[in-house]
Amino acid sequence: MTKRLVILVSGRGSNLQSILAACRSGQIPDTQVVAVISNRPAAGALELAVLAGIPALTVDHRDYGTRVDFDAALQRQIDDYAPDVVALAGFMRQLTPAFVQHYEGRMLNVHPSLLPAFPGLHTHARALEQGVLWHGASVHFVTSALDAGPAIIQAAVAVLPEDDEQSLAARVLDAEHRIYPQALAWLLTGRVAYAAGRAQWRDPPETAMREAIAPSLESFS
Ligand code: GRF
Repeated sequence: MTKRLVILVSGRGSNLQSILAACRSGQIPDTQVVAVISNRPAAGALELAVLAGIPALTVDHRDYGTRVDFDAALQRQIDDYAPDVVALAGFMRQLTPAFVQHYEGRMLNVHPSLLPAFPGLHTHARALEQGVLWHGASVHFVTSALDAGPAIIQAAVAVLPEDDEQSLAARVLDAEHRIYPQALAWLLTGRVAYAAGRAQWRDPPETAMREAIAPSLESFS
């Protein structure tokens, strides 16, 4: 049966676009994006959803007095679409433990760093400031600790001497676009699942790891 995916956004929606392309091409097999929901009415991602003929909704966090109230409204809206998986794609709100618990094992996030390095905001500036040689992107299960759930896939991006925040962010974003569809495909086909606080693989982990390493090698080309 076709799997149902709801995508939460706050911004321009380039990760949304890469996921939609992967659903169309079959890289994410047998899956339909059934709704795109933003906490910001002006998010460009909503326009992309409309263009793709997907229900595009806003649950504006400014209309709610507390995080608990906002998350409850968001959860109602999401659950109206009965998703198998929820993908945070540039969704810029911290979520309450009850909300996270409700979607345990079926909610993923993409984060622009090699977690556990640089959780939170301004990851590219912080990576440059620290002088790290490698930066990158991670897709992880969402848990109640911010940007700390178990990773499913990571892509490493070399930090170049001439990099500024913008150039580094652009290469990391490109990596995000490659690894997020892969992680979603693995979750939606049951290849990876969340159990006992870890990502558990149906196939031997070495197989998944080799696939996970491939995107980082490509980033040199
Ligand atoms: C991405 O870098 C994501 O990792 C970050 O916000 C950005 C969203 O970009 N948290 P987009 O809206 O998917 O283009």
